[in-house]
Amino acid sequence: MEVVKTIAELKERVQKAKVAGKTIGLVPTMGFLHEGHLTLANTARQENDVVMMSIFVNPTQFGPNEDFKSYPRDLERDCKLAKSVGVDVLFAPTVEEMYPTDGGIYIRAGRQSKILCGASRQGHFDGVLQVVSKLFHLFEPDRAYFGQKDAQQVAIVQTMVRDYNFPLEIRTVPIVREEDGLAKSSRNVYLTEQERKEAPAIYESLQIAKEEFLANNDVSKAIELATKHIETKTSGKIDYLEFLSYPDLKPVADETNHFLLATAVYIGKTRLIDNIIFHTK
Ligand code: PAJ
Repeated sequence: MEVVKTIAELKERVQKAKVAGKTIGLVPTMGFLHEGHLTLANTARQENDVVMMSIFVNPTQFGPNEDFKSYPRDLERDCKLAKSVGVDVLFAPTVEEMYPTDGGIYIRAGRQSKILCGASRQGHFDGVLQVVSKLFHLFEPDRAYFGQKDAQQVAIVQTMVRDYNFPLEIRTVPIVREEDGLAKSSRNVYLTEQERKEAPAIYESLQIAKEEFLANNDVSKAIELATKHIETKTSGKIDYLEFLSYPDLKPVADETNHFLLATAVYIGKTRLIDNIIFHTK
């Protein structure tokens, strides 16, 4: 595996692959890798000749009071993990390398970014689209891999790719969970022992809501039961818990048959997200 830190070095690797007629699979990450990220890389490994990963904690997607500074980082460990799943090229740039200038031109995420995580993280998805579009231009990938864990993120990225004709395919990989159901996340390291014990109640609540909805088709009742579960099993505070249509992220209507049931919960100071996507009819 080659680790490169500059755009010039990366472009060389990309050109080499292109000239050899090889397909490129890109896995964009912010590092502190866990099995979720590694599953994306494994899937990319199966579907492409060359697998490239980026590790970049992108400042433009963090709000002023969020955890950009304290976000966990360990490049040495990440290199070992990325190598173990067959990543060929790892791109780990500095902030200056990615954003050397600011010409004042920004990408603005649309309607899908105003709700769920976007409602409490203003500008977050603008930052995500900014970095993702840069990465797509730099890596020229045939396919890019995103986790369903961030279902709203992948829906918004897909909209940009569709509407702005980015020449690549977005592939979505299911959520990888701990044995007790907690979705794997780089932020899980923030949890205290007690908080970690409470955290699986988030996924339990989603399952309760899904079952209730499938049994009685009653969104409010499903949300009520799930809310109660989180409130009794954790010390956490719910940011949102919602049913929406997927991937357009609109309010549920009679004709909706593809659902996103998503939640964000503050457990102590840590904001954890999780979701279930399911079909009916
Ligand atoms: P990060 O949080 O590091 O996640 C990188 C990718 O891994 C995302 O596509 C995310 O959905 C996926 N992922 C994280 N946890 C997962 C899990 N438990 N199961 C499956 N996939 C999981 O998301 C970002 O970084 C950034 O916003 C990024 C897209 C890199 C842009 O900066």
